[in-house]
Amino acid sequence: MKVTIIGAGNMGGAIARGLAKGTIINTAEITVSDPSEPTLQALQKEYPDINIMCDNKTAIVDADLIIVAVKPWLVKPVLAELSLQPQQVLVSIAAGISFEQLVEYTALPEQTMFRLIPNTAISQLESMTLIASYKATPVHEKLLIDIFNEMGMAMMVPESQLAATTALTSCGIAYVLKYIQAAMQAGVEMGLYPKDAQRMVAQSVKGAASLILNNDTHPSIEIDKVTTPGGITIKGINELEHAGFTSAIIKAMKASR
Ligand SMILES: NC(=O)c1ccc[n+]([C@@H]2O[C@H](COP(=O)([O-])OP(=O)(O)OC[C@H]3O[C@@H](n4cnc5c(N)ncnc54)[C@H](OP(=O)(O)O)[C@@H]3O)[C@@H](O)[C@H]2O)c1
Repeated sequence: MKVTIIGAGNMGGAIARGLAKGTIINTAEITVSDPSEPTLQALQKEYPDINIMCDNKTAIVDADLIIVAVKPWLVKPVLAELSLQPQQVLVSIAAGISFEQLVEYTALPEQTMFRLIPNTAISQLESMTLIASYKATPVHEKLLIDIFNEMGMAMMVPESQLAATTALTSCGIAYVLKYIQAAMQAGVEMGLYPKDAQRMVAQSVKGAASLILNNDTHPSIEIDKVTTPGGITIKGINELEHAGFTSAIIKAMKASR
C-alpha cells in the first residue's frame, strides 16, 4: 500500500514519522511532498527509506492513499492541480473543510474520501484521531482505523459530529495543558521548582487518563476514591466548583465548536 502525504509540516511530518514507526505501511512506500527542501531532507535524514518530492503531481502518481496535510486555505489550490484516479483514497486533515467542499474542489463526487482530525500528541504516537468517511467501504474504514490506532487511538465519527468532537480532542488538549500550567503555578507558589512541579502534574494527568482508559470507569468513581469525607481533596474540589470550574470547561468546549 503506497501512501503520499502532501505537506510535511507539524501534522504531515508527524503522520509520516508515525507511519514509518508503525507496522502497516512499508517505509519505502511512503512519499512526502512539500515545497521546502530542508524540511523534506530533515525527514529523510531520520527515515532514509521515505521518498521525498517537491512536486505534488508526481508524488501522487502511484499512491493508493493520499493524505492532504496543508493549511485549510491551501486545500483548494492543491487539489485543483491533482488528477486523482478512481481507486485512490483521499484523506484530508484540514480542519473545517467539509466533504461537500472536497467534492467541489476535486469535482469527484464518487471518490472515497476521509476527513481526519488528529491532535498534536500524534508526534508522541498518543493522538486522539477522529475519522469521518465518505463513499468508503468497511475495509477502507478499518484500514484507516488500524493505521491511526498505531499513532494513539482512532475513532470513526459522523461528519456532523466532527466540530463537537474536535473541540473535545484537538482543542481539548490545549485545555489539559492549561490545567497543567495552572497547577504548576500553584506548586511554584507553594515553594516547588517549576521543573519538578511540571513532571509531578504531567504524570498525574497521565495517571488520571490511564485510570479512565484502562479501567473503562467513570471519572466520578475515580474521584470518589480520592475524596475522604472531611478530607483535603473534597475541599479543593468544592473550591473548583465555587470558582465555576465545570461551567468554564463546558463553555470553553462549546466556544471551540
Ligand atoms: N495543529 C493541529 O492541532 C491540527 C489538528 C488537526 C488538523 N490540523 C490541520 O492540519 C493541517 C496542517 O496543519 P499544520 O499545523 O501541520 O501546518 P504546517 O505546519 O504549516 O504544515 C503545512 C505544510 O504544508 C506545506 N505546504 C504549503 N504549500 C504546499 C503545497 N502547495 N504543496 C505541498 N505542501 C505545501 C508547508 O510548507 P511551507 O511551510 O514551506 O509553506 C508546510 O510544511 C491544517 O489544515 C490543519 O487544519 C491541525
